[in-house]
Amino acid sequence: MTESAEQVQEEVEEQEIDLAAANKVIDKYLDMTGNLMPVLQGIQEEYGYIPEATVHLTAERLNVYTSQIYGVLTFYAQFHMKPRGKYIIRVCMGTACHVKGAGRLGETLEGRLGIGHAETTEDLKFTAEYVACIGACGMAPVIMVNDATYGSLNVKKMDAVIDKYQAMD
Ligand code: FES
Repeated sequence: MTESAEQVQEEVEEQEIDLAAANKVIDKYLDMTGNLMPVLQGIQEEYGYIPEATVHLTAERLNVYTSQIYGVLTFYAQFHMKPRGKYIIRVCMGTACHVKGAGRLGETLEGRLGIGHAETTEDLKFTAEYVACIGACGMAPVIMVNDATYGSLNVKKMDAVIDKYQAMD
């Protein structure tokens, strides 16, 4: 079977992962019972996501099946298998925001940054996520950029928010 260029690229990227940080995390929890979750959380904290190479390393060092690790990773929404942007833009698609034009905000974001739900820009600056109600319906439509909330938005106001983050490192 021949591999696609994308698969080869992914493998090359995986080979470049420095496993020292992951080994350090595993060392820390090695003798603890129920150590899989803290190990995975620690690895994600170090790398910003769970690189595939660290899954294999964890399986080997904790003596668990990789399938068991993937089970945990897919069950818990907190884990990410791909690199994510420095700025996570969450566009609320809950009912109140939807009624007030969240769909247009999503489309505008996609048009401007070229990323839809769960996608990341190539420069790893932005990740877009469409989420359910974030509890700020009184300010609908709402987006969050990391921990900051921006409400009562229209396309123009959202553009200004994105401009602000584009200008930051
Ligand atoms: S529906 Fe968007 S904050 Fe509640």
